[in-house]
Amino acid sequence: MEPIHLFRPQYRTEEALAEIRECLEQGWTGAGAKTIEFEQAWIRYSGFAHAHFVNSCTAALHLALKLLKEDGRWAEHDEIITTPFTFVSTNHVILYERLKPVFADIDEYLCLDPASIERRITPRTRAVCFVGIGGNIGRYRQVRDLCRARGLALILDGAHMTGTWIGSEHAGADADAVAFSFQAVKNLPTADAGMVCFARKDLDQEVRRWSWLGIDKDTYMRSVQQAATYRWRYDVPHVGFKYHGNAVMAALALVGLRHVEEDNHRRREIAGWYDEALEALSAICKIPQPDGFRSSRHLYQVLVDRRDEVILGLNRRGIFPGMHYADNTCYPMYRYAHGSCPRAEQASARILSLPMHLGLNRGHIHRIAEALDETTAELQTDGCSAGLQRP
Ligand SMILES: Cc1ncc(COP(=O)(O)O)c(C=O)c1O
Repeated sequence: MEPIHLFRPQYRTEEALAEIRECLEQGWTGAGAKTIEFEQAWIRYSGFAHAHFVNSCTAALHLALKLLKEDGRWAEHDEIITTPFTFVSTNHVILYERLKPVFADIDEYLCLDPASIERRITPRTRAVCFVGIGGNIGRYRQVRDLCRARGLALILDGAHMTGTWIGSEHAGADADAVAFSFQAVKNLPTADAGMVCFARKDLDQEVRRWSWLGIDKDTYMRSVQQAATYRWRYDVPHVGFKYHGNAVMAALALVGLRHVEEDNHRRREIAGWYDEALEALSAICKIPQPDGFRSSRHLYQVLVDRRDEVILGLNRRGIFPGMHYADNTCYPMYRYAHGSCPRAEQASARILSLPMHLGLNRGHIHRIAEALDETTAELQTDGCSAGLQRP
């Protein structure tokens, strides 16, 4: 029986090799013409004002917090409201900056609940970090309005959101900073890369120095400024990080970007097949999608009782789903907030990510639905008709 895995990245191998060959033949694989070309292509695609290509979404998130903090309005131990239902990158970067993650609870979309955010605001709150789980926008628009009304910065962790559109705008067009992931299993897969997009031009200019160890002139600029005097000389006004992207990743990303809209269209088609196939399965609870947006559909998630046993049952049938995410307050560095987000705790016990990648066809989805039906019947889990309840 052919195994069905959670993710299986697909690369356009010949197109990608041609882009990478160009870098190799030019003898330039670091930051340079290709990374700039990708930044410009991303700006044309997304409509964002600025974009800086970095080596991961984790780096992008860290730079977003770092630069907004360096802006002078935040101090150590100030509070950032964030979600416990995410990959740990979202929250680790808050700790990198010695800021305090304050966890608000999630809603039925698995995203931050604005009502819970409101309750967590204190005089020390400086920003909200919103995560669009699986490409879903949840109540992002309400969170944006709340941040504006309360004078808080809004950072969007868009790791899953390449190609999520709200009307005619790419998700995050109205945030202070957005971070994207182009890691190997994301919608725009490279091997590891990311993008940070600031609304403000000055921060976009500064971030280029912060991602290059604090050096004020990058190696590429020094090499192309043939006629400039002192082109070998640079200054280092502060300590920065080695976070910039490279040409080989940018080459892969350029190819991915050409196809990401058709790929996401296919993902939404697969999600539609799941919606139909799971309709009759009372043990499975789907995650709702709000109106007025087009999801990247990075994930197809459901809630199911006895989730770990369901996974083992599916594994026995050759299906290998995933789990996104465990409530971060179960990890030692965030345990101080354990018990403060009951819906995130509920979701982390019941969440299941079904296979979602471009190699899936209707037959696969039918097989997955049948396997879910058999497994949940064996386990007699039929108590899952309710989704995550808001209080
Ligand atoms: C929600 C979320 N944020 C951030 C990241 C970090 O992305 P990267 O691996 O590009 O650093 C991930 C990666 O899986 C993620 O899922």
